[in-house]
Amino acid sequence: MVLQRHHTAWTPESAPDQTGRIAVVTGSNSGIGYATARGLAACGAEVVLACRSRDRGTAALERLRAEVPGASVSLRVLDLARLRSVREFAAEWGRGRVDLLVHNAGVVAVPADPTEDGFEPHFGVNHLGAFALTGLLLPYLAASPRPRVVTVSSEVQRVVRLAPERLESVQRRRGDAMIAYGRSKKANVYFALELQRRADAVGLPLRSMIAIPGLTDTGVLNRGANAGRGVLWRRGVTPFVHLLAKPVERGAEPTLYAATDGKLPGGSCVAPSGPLQVFGKPVAGDGFRLAPDAAVARRLWTLSERLTCVRFAELDRTSSESGPEHLG
Ligand SMILES: NC(=O)c1ccc[n+]([C@@H]2O[C@H](COP(=O)([O-])OP(=O)(O)OC[C@H]3O[C@@H](n4cnc5c(N)ncnc54)[C@H](OP(=O)(O)O)[C@@H]3O)[C@@H](O)[C@H]2O)c1
Repeated sequence: MVLQRHHTAWTPESAPDQTGRIAVVTGSNSGIGYATARGLAACGAEVVLACRSRDRGTAALERLRAEVPGASVSLRVLDLARLRSVREFAAEWGRGRVDLLVHNAGVVAVPADPTEDGFEPHFGVNHLGAFALTGLLLPYLAASPRPRVVTVSSEVQRVVRLAPERLESVQRRRGDAMIAYGRSKKANVYFALELQRRADAVGLPLRSMIAIPGLTDTGVLNRGANAGRGVLWRRGVTPFVHLLAKPVERGAEPTLYAATDGKLPGGSCVAPSGPLQVFGKPVAGDGFRLAPDAAVARRLWTLSERLTCVRFAELDRTSSESGPEHLG
């Protein structure tokens, strides 16, 4: 679907000062997440790297401190494949607020081994982990004067449909790993938009954004492009994919734009302007056009609450005030 553009003049240099804002970036030890954390730190934000490996997180922390002298940055362990870890992260947060939460962490084309809680790994990490983290950090987001949540989806979500009647089965592997990945990225879109609807309904000034990086040369590219392929594919096709892919700094631009631009309304989607949202400069558009079916979003939300046992108390006033129709 073509995005309706708000404006096209964004550049990393034009990102506004983020001094005083506390940002959490998941999966920030590598790839787009690291470049996002570095970009936010360079704009003055206090950045918490939320990484599943303490060793890889520590290496990223040291690298970032060397690359951005004076950066205010720290590390917290967070494994989105374990709801226990998500709960611990939130319980030990210990700060008064979160101003910006960036759901960047993701697995691509991984084997079907379920997460600790028994979920298909793409759905479990990419969607349910992010969902639970948002709900558990919501009291701290609600304490911010300008809370913002950015959910990193993928251009792949364009070609995937979440059938309402089959939502329940998304938590188990059906078909190949890239299809499972695509479904989790579609779930990211539905989640981000439903979060915006629910925040609006209770008057919470939260802006929920979607960012789509486009083809970017990171570790996932190798894993995603090679998943289940033979040696001919790996030697013949994968090198072209790398040639086409943009450097990681460019891949982080949609996320940084969505995370920092003061003019973007909630529910915006920032994606590359070029063909198939893979190439081109980041432009912002109306995210609601990506997934206009609010009923699917409501059903996914209810399912996610049930599977994670996380409720969004600050948004629950919506359900009691608007009746069951609003919860779906
Ligand atoms: N690269 C692309 O072309 C592209 C295109 C569209 C969308 N995206 C999206 O961009 C995001 C970042 O991916 P990337 O390309 O930068 O790949 P990446 O370098 O592999 O980054 C993925 C990050 O997620 C972390 N992660 C994985 N499982 C986790 C878990 N259970 N708990 C916490 N963190 C976990 C990884 O940690 P470890 O290092 O410990 O594994 C890593 O830091 C993903 O959401 C991906 O879907 C990428």
